[in-house]
Amino acid sequence: MSFAAHRHDFRDKPKAYAELAQQLAGLLAGERDLIANAANTAALLFAALPEVNWAGFYFLKDGELVVGPFQGQPACVRIALGRGVCGTAAAERRTLVVPDVHAFPGHIACDAASRAEIVVPLLDRGRLLGVLDLDSPVPGRFDAADAAGLEPLAGLFIKACTPDGSARG
Ligand code: SME
Repeated sequence: MSFAAHRHDFRDKPKAYAELAQQLAGLLAGERDLIANAANTAALLFAALPEVNWAGFYFLKDGELVVGPFQGQPACVRIALGRGVCGTAAAERRTLVVPDVHAFPGHIACDAASRAEIVVPLLDRGRLLGVLDLDSPVPGRFDAADAAGLEPLAGLFIKACTPDGSARG
């Protein structure tokens, strides 16, 4: 099989995300190691999605978010629940779409180029594992179609890593 990310036409986001979901399912098939799957998921998203300058994971460890595998500029390592976009999405257990990070109170600037952000919480049967985070240098880059497309991708990742409810990391 080819591991290279295909180029999708994101003018039709639902279609492109559906194709990406197929590709991710293939990439994760038969592997449940959390770090390996997170690394490949981040690499796939970073390569496939246009206008994205950071794509990766924060995992919940001892009550705070700790950076996991990602693509992009080095990022802040620890984020308290309730802080920044990631900590807020984790605490509220819902996807946050932030069109302008400068207008988000408490936004944590890791890469000064980032202007828009989307964060999807990773929930395994109600248990918070962490978040999937994407940044873009383009204001307004992410919308409800990105949320609707990324949430199933996060679901595929969780399902691959926790087939019996226990992530191996
Ligand atoms: N901007 C995020 C921090 C993580 S970086 O974007 C990679 C936040 O406010 O939570």
